[in-house]
Amino acid sequence: MSRWSEIRSWRSGAKKRRRLRDLEGALVVVTGAGSGIGRETALAFAAEGAIVVAADRDLETAQQTVALVDEHAANRGATAVFGGGAYAYAVDVADEDRVQRLASVVRAEHGVPDVVVNNAGIGYSGTFTATPQDAFEKVMDVNFWGVVYGCRAFAPMMIERGTGGQIVNLSSAAAFTPQKMLTAYATSKAAVYMFSDCLRGELVPHGIGVSTICPGIVHTNIVKTTGFAGVSAEKEAELQKKTDRFYDKRNYTPDRVAAQIVKAVKSGKSVLPVTPEARFGYVWNRIAPGGSRVAARFGLE
Ligand SMILES: NC(=O)c1ccc[n+]([C@@H]2O[C@H](COP(=O)([O-])OP(=O)(O)OC[C@H]3O[C@@H](n4cnc5c(N)ncnc54)[C@H](O)[C@@H]3O)[C@@H](O)[C@H]2O)c1
Repeated sequence: MSRWSEIRSWRSGAKKRRRLRDLEGALVVVTGAGSGIGRETALAFAAEGAIVVAADRDLETAQQTVALVDEHAANRGATAVFGGGAYAYAVDVADEDRVQRLASVVRAEHGVPDVVVNNAGIGYSGTFTATPQDAFEKVMDVNFWGVVYGCRAFAPMMIERGTGGQIVNLSSAAAFTPQKMLTAYATSKAAVYMFSDCLRGELVPHGIGVSTICPGIVHTNIVKTTGFAGVSAEKEAELQKKTDRFYDKRNYTPDRVAAQIVKAVKSGKSVLPVTPEARFGYVWNRIAPGGSRVAARFGLE
C-alpha cells in the first residue's frame, strides 16, 4: 500500500467507526462485569439499547449484573423489546485459552462484537523490593496480558467483518502518576496505555478505535481485594479497610466512569483521564514530569 492510499484508508476507517454514535442493538463485551466499573459499564451500554455480554471470573456476579440489566430493561419500553439484553459468561482473562473460548462462544451465539471493554483488573500495593515475583506476575497476567488476550481474541474477527468498532482498555491514572508503592500495578497500567497507543495506529484503517480509560480514585470493590506486599494477613486486612474508607470518602462512583466510557465510545475518544485527580496527573506529568518523579518518592500512608 502506498503512503497516500494508507492515509486515505484512515478516512474510510473513521467513517465506519462513526456508526457507533448510536449504540442501539450494538453488541458489547465487558470483562470484569461482575463488579464496580465493569458492572456499571454493562448497565450503561444496556441503557443505550446495546446487547451486553457480561464476563467475569466470578460467574455469579456476572449473572447478578445481567439480572440488573433485565430489571432496568423492563421499564424501558421499546428498547426492552427491540434492543438490549445481557448474557453472563465466566472467563479468567489471565488465561488466553479461556479468553479465546469466550470469543468463539460469543461469535457463535451473538455475533461479532461492536465494542469490547477489557476492564477486568486487580489492585496491588507495595514497593518493588517488597513485591514477590509471583505477585508481580499475577498483576501483569490479569491487568496487562488480560487486555492483550482480549484484543487478540476479538480484534481479528472485528477486522474480518469490516464494519469497524471500538476497543476500550482500562488503564489507570497510575499509568502516568509514578508512585513507589504501586510499582507492579502502575507498570501493568502503563503497559496497557502504550499497548493501546500502538494498537490504535494499527486499527485505524479498519474503522476500529481504541479508547484508553484512565480513572483516578473510584469507589468500587477493588481495594477490598488488593494485595499489600510484605505485611501479615491481619495488617493487609487493616490496610484494605483503611484504604476503602479513603475511597469511600473520595466518593467518586463507578457509574460516573461508565457514563464517560459510553461517551468515549460514541465519540471515538483515544485517551480519557477520568476524575479530577487523573486529569491533573495527566497534565502535570506532561508539563512537569520531573515534579511527578519527585512525588513518586512519597508513600501513600
Ligand atoms: N477503582 C479504581 O479506583 C480504579 C482506578 C483506576 C483503574 N481502575 C481499573 O478499572 C478496572 C475495574 O476495576 P474496579 O475498580 O471496578 O474493580 P472491582 O474489583 O470492583 O471489579 C473488578 C472485576 O474484575 C473481575 N476480575 C478480576 N480478575 C479477573 C480475571 N482474572 N478474569 C476475569 N475477571 C476478573 C472481578 O471478579 C471483579 O468483578 C480495573 O482494570 C482497575 O484496575 C480502577
